[in-house]
Amino acid sequence: MKVVLGVGGGIAAYKAAELARALVQNGHAVQVVMTAGAREFVRPLTFAALTGRKVIGDLFSSATPDATLSSAVEHIAVAQENDLLIVAPATADLLARFAHGLASDFLTTLYLAFPGPVVLAPAMNTNMWTHPATQANLEALRRRGHRVVEPGEGFLACGMTGPGRLAEPAEIAAAVEAELHRRRDLEGETVLITAGPTQEPLDPVRYISNRSSGKMGYALAEAAAARGARVTLISGPVHLPPPRGVKVIPVRTAAEMRDQVFAHLQGTDIIIKAAAVADFHLSKVPQQKVKKTAARISLELDPTPDILSELGRKKDSRQLLVGFAAETENLPQEARRKLEAKNCDMIVGNLVNREDVGFESDQNEVILALRTGETIPLARASKREVADRIFDEILKLRLAIYATDEH
Ligand code: CTP
Repeated sequence: MKVVLGVGGGIAAYKAAELARALVQNGHAVQVVMTAGAREFVRPLTFAALTGRKVIGDLFSSATPDATLSSAVEHIAVAQENDLLIVAPATADLLARFAHGLASDFLTTLYLAFPGPVVLAPAMNTNMWTHPATQANLEALRRRGHRVVEPGEGFLACGMTGPGRLAEPAEIAAAVEAELHRRRDLEGETVLITAGPTQEPLDPVRYISNRSSGKMGYALAEAAAARGARVTLISGPVHLPPPRGVKVIPVRTAAEMRDQVFAHLQGTDIIIKAAAVADFHLSKVPQQKVKKTAARISLELDPTPDILSELGRKKDSRQLLVGFAAETENLPQEARRKLEAKNCDMIVGNLVNREDVGFESDQNEVILALRTGETIPLARASKREVADRIFDEILKLRLAIYATDEH
């Protein structure tokens, strides 16, 4: 296959030479693109010799004295000809420019024009790596579906010890292979996902809701779309951009969510209820704002429709139903109890009283309780990675169910 290797300007640029060699050994045609900074660390000749082709340097300088360096204005052609873009080392500056869509040199312009999969292998000083700006940029890039090969920990060139060292070239090459061969294994499937909280009005200006950010449900929608599914996302009020290629249906209350779920149920193969639906609401909402006249008021609330339970009763046998269980204790027992009670095929359970994972976090750590009796713990990872692992298990589970049901 054809791979572009973008080399950023960091001390780890020399390790990219070993990566170039590994990619060539794996049978790929490798086009190297070096930033101006990268060319301060390593000469283009190294890469030209390893890949057998001229390295691309600047965007517009037509005359370059270096015969091993070609200047290409053809960033669109390079973007269209190649199957994958790997950037190693991806510096803090490159991550920021990718995240914000700046096109200030050949590599960043190529990135914007590149329609295929992108792998990023960051390397930088520990403080730069842990800085909230870098982490926010990384999160934006992950959400775009790019694979990030995490840097290792160790002694860094700057004298510090900590995370920031470029991953080993063999590990980066393996990530490139995985990305090139990623299956479009949800092609032809229709997936219905609910996400976010619901808001139950108390009067025209107040409501009851919960801390759900919608991030897990949106990550599931992104992952399903990237794997080829037709995805409908029924979303409560959240502050997230609509995922690319996903049909988003905004709702506010549990009742609205229920109606939209059942309006879209027919023809759906996989249903995932990641939403944190409010359990109670006020059935008669006052038309006017409630005034602060009484010293104390009490609210009498009625249950909202339990959408997941109704789905469990009404779904047909070939529809796979996945629910969530947000717990603060007894996670495995509660997940299994909800699996049985709501007639689900899988419950994704997480502890929501931990600071580092759960509601507003970009990371999650969950267990999967399956209809087959198995319980699978998934290690802590970005919500997008957890989403992909959930789909891996959903597909395996469906095969297992089909085998036992003798379809
Ligand atoms: N759920 C739903 N409709 C509701 C409440 C919950 O569809 N009215 C779904 C959620 O989307 C989630 C699952 O049920 O997939 C479990 O939600 P959770 O709040 O953990 O459980 P509850 O059933 O509300 O039970 P409890 O609050 O007692 O833990």
